[in-house]
Amino acid sequence: MDELQTQEDVRATPRSIPAPGDKLVYLETFGCQMNKLDSELALQALATSGYRPTEKMGDADLVLFNTCSVREHAEDKVDSRLGLLGIKKNKKPGSVVALMGCMAQREGRALLHRQPVVDLVVGTKEFLELPRLVEEARTTGRRRCADDLDREFTEYARDPRFRTDPHRAYVSIMRGCDLDCTYCIVPTTRGPEQSRALEEIVRECRALARDGVKEITLLGQTVNSWGKQLPGAPDLADLLARLDEIPELLRVRFITSHPNFFRNRFWERVSGLRTFCPYIHVPAQHGNDRVLKRMHRLYTVEKYLDVVAEARATIPGIALASDWIVGFPGETEAELEQSLALLERVRFATSYVFKYSPRPGTPATRLEDDVPEKEKDRRCTLLVRAQEKISLEQNKSARGQVFEVLVEGVSKKNETKLSGRTRDNRICVFTGARELEGRLVGVRVLDATAHTLYGELATSRSLPLVP
Ligand code: SAH
Ligand code: SF4
Ligand code: F3S
Repeated sequence: MDELQTQEDVRATPRSIPAPGDKLVYLETFGCQMNKLDSELALQALATSGYRPTEKMGDADLVLFNTCSVREHAEDKVDSRLGLLGIKKNKKPGSVVALMGCMAQREGRALLHRQPVVDLVVGTKEFLELPRLVEEARTTGRRRCADDLDREFTEYARDPRFRTDPHRAYVSIMRGCDLDCTYCIVPTTRGPEQSRALEEIVRECRALARDGVKEITLLGQTVNSWGKQLPGAPDLADLLARLDEIPELLRVRFITSHPNFFRNRFWERVSGLRTFCPYIHVPAQHGNDRVLKRMHRLYTVEKYLDVVAEARATIPGIALASDWIVGFPGETEAELEQSLALLERVRFATSYVFKYSPRPGTPATRLEDDVPEKEKDRRCTLLVRAQEKISLEQNKSARGQVFEVLVEGVSKKNETKLSGRTRDNRICVFTGARELEGRLVGVRVLDATAHTLYGELATSRSLPLVP
């Protein structure tokens, strides 16, 4: 596994991006959902100075990579794109090569030295300045790094024309992270937590809903700690209640949650909301208390299980997803077995399993990275297999039931089928007419694999929450 991304099974239905100018930008995005959103915002900002996206690097006046730093592999991918792709040979003469995102932020100026093909390094709080920075680089020919992390980040007022998906949208509700998990580079690359004002989020979501968006995913590194610095200290449940009042909106999701921040009767307050989706991504990371302590995760296995019990008591059938790190420094076989035990005890719907990768400057690098790569592979496979078995059982037992599915588009794997997601975030592939795109339909599940439900249309009328 590499960077955390939700699996997608829909053909992208790019909207026709307006053509205000004659310059072209080629953009590749690595990493998480926050990066995907930032790429949309970057394209929007660049459009104001006349840039249109292109699929061909050779035509582009600006070659832009939105990078990730979460594991070494994520950075290697960018380096190999820069090298192997022969950007220098293939790019249009005189074009600007720019790197934004977490790797740009982490390495800063050093990237300019290390990668002579790069003209511009733009940090996670500066990328909205791209139009000005690119123009400067073009006219002066000077290579530059803009990576100030101390500045306040102001979200951009979204222009609906720059969204890539007509029915679903990401909305960032906070930036950065105030925690300090010892393995993690994110607080270094994204800075401290900064919540966005409630009314501003509501306004953006309302505008998106009016533009046809049916499902919104709220983004934050610890999304359920949102609001703590804001006047009146609203919390995520308050925000979800406000968004629930937007009539055109059908579903609201949020990622990623931290086990410690489901406070103030969170489950009770959200359980009755029309738009609430019973799928929570709340990484456990590990099943052993001593490892959790070395990771500085701030909870024990027992506390994590309390959160699970509370969620399930209030919202029966709620689907839970976790991230896991295997091969953290000093992890013994017995400790690994405890991750496996926790995974099997909670019976997660999905697990994202990652091999520990030391990140420069993080506290965990003071511990010896003593689990050999091959052993990390084995441990990773062990958890992935255990999860697949559970997912397969869960999905097979859905056969015969009718699920509410939001139709996202034509299936990537089979053009004659439609693909969408259930409320609890399972991918569902079924036969139906393209006109159903963007609508809620009922799908009867006929068969299933560990990752996909297959079914037939049961009703094309909107349904209540099933099951
Ligand atoms: N803010 C989110 C996600 C952070 S990064 C959260 O706290 O849950 C996404 C996932 O990558 C993490 O949950 C973790 O499982 C994994 N990860 C982060 N740093 C890593 C590292 N150095 N090596 C391996 N996996 C890592
Ligand atoms: Fe990283 Fe931990 Fe913050 Fe998540 S909560 S972004 S893992 S420091
Ligand atoms: Fe990667 Fe940064 Fe996201 S490190 S996972 S792009 S927050």
